Amino acid sequence: MSIENSAKIKFYSGEHVPLELHKARIVQKLHLVPIERRLEALQEGGFNTFRLTTPDVFLDMLTDSGTNAMSDRQQAAMMHADDAYAGSQSFTRMAQAVKDVLKKQYLLPVHQGRAAENILSKAYIRKKGDLIPMNYHFTTALAHITQYGGQIVELLYDEAYNIASSHPFKGNMNVEKLEEVIRSTGVENIPFIRMEASTNLIGGQPFSIANFREVRKIADKYGIKLVLDASLLGENAYLVIQREPEFVNASIGDVISLMTGLADIVYFSARKLSSSRGGGICTNDINVYREIEALVPLFEGFLTYGGMSVREIEAIAVGLYETLDESIISQSPQFIAYLVNSLVAKNVPVVTPAGVLGAHVDAMKFCEHIPQNQYPAGALAAAFYLISGIRGMERGSMSNQRDENGNETYADMELLRLAVPRRVFTLSQIMYVIDRICWLYENRRLIGGLRFVYEPPVLRFFMGGLEPVSDWTTNLIAKFREDFGESL
Ligand code: F0G
Repeated sequence: MSIENSAKIKFYSGEHVPLELHKARIVQKLHLVPIERRLEALQEGGFNTFRLTTPDVFLDMLTDSGTNAMSDRQQAAMMHADDAYAGSQSFTRMAQAVKDVLKKQYLLPVHQGRAAENILSKAYIRKKGDLIPMNYHFTTALAHITQYGGQIVELLYDEAYNIASSHPFKGNMNVEKLEEVIRSTGVENIPFIRMEASTNLIGGQPFSIANFREVRKIADKYGIKLVLDASLLGENAYLVIQREPEFVNASIGDVISLMTGLADIVYFSARKLSSSRGGGICTNDINVYREIEALVPLFEGFLTYGGMSVREIEAIAVGLYETLDESIISQSPQFIAYLVNSLVAKNVPVVTPAGVLGAHVDAMKFCEHIPQNQYPAGALAAAFYLISGIRGMERGSMSNQRDENGNETYADMELLRLAVPRRVFTLSQIMYVIDRICWLYENRRLIGGLRFVYEPPVLRFFMGGLEPVSDWTTNLIAKFREDFGESL
């Protein structure tokens, strides 16, 4: 019998340890540079963790996107890729995996998740002001929708905004509000409803099947297309099994096919789903396929590679089948739960319950002395890198875009996201993360705010440059040296 989930392995000590169900066979050396060099790296990178380069980064917790560990089988599959421009057998294998795992007959390949968002927005947003209801936005989805003149409305239940919550499904869509919005907006102004698996920006929180079924009913009642962003589908399915009583004995595959079966269009970033790099749009509706087919060669590449390398296509095919393996899909959520629960035990404010993708530290509370216009989550990300060499990502107001008058739109939550890519880190590395966050929490008053010195007009958080509003880094470094001596 193979082990599917290490939660089933008990330690005699009674302690819950997320035991790794894999072994490392290829490893990559890490660098931990001294705090003084880390300050220089921050200055060179405009205090924006996106602009740090890997020689200066110890644990890279920026994202799980394209950084998950690949399996030996994925790597082996990459070696027998078929380079044909058209009719590649690599694509045939990916399309078969989409049929087997996501249960969709038609696949349009794209170079990554946001390319799917571009194509869907271009195909379906027909006029200015068209409204896309969704459980919550993702940065790139919003940017593409607004690019084509569309607008969004976010329909989470209030509990989703409660950071310290124990609600199992904070990603659920508020179906009562959805119906109200459809009635007041008019069906003709709603091109589709978007449901995101494991809502990224509110802390990787899943939705339940019961909720998704309700959304489907409303979509049917009004004849509106339902689009599923399946980038974090596997982990959402895993948490459904853990948290939704109807599915305790279901397999990941059962839950995945239920979820994809409820959507008319499924799109994904393969940088997340399938632990590789690429993306896809899939459907069982030939009319949908025909409506968007022509856009793929226009923007992406021919219909049997869509801008992806054929090697990655092979890795996606294998990775999709591996999404059905609970021992793979349970690993990251279990490490995240260990990290989140350890932080909760030390009273560090963090989004609960533990979700997927990473741990999300509540910067609004951690840095309550920093006003939102000085980007508390960005400041926390910079300070945390400075004192640990760990690179996290700001998920707060810096990641928001300004409104049409150029005013800030403040985020509902100011989060420092510490991503836990699948099967990349060891437990002792996670213990280092916990140790350094706890130290910073004790010294949080030393963290100061940031201001933009270079602000790109679109997706400013990627390449924007900032500077500290005061000389707070000096005091933080002095305290670090006092407590850690010569230690890195
Ligand atoms: N949808 C979701 C839910 C995502 O998390 C992402 C990417 C995308 C779409 C876009 O996919 O990057 O392949 O173009 N999330 C990354 C992250 C960037 O770090 O969370 P992409």
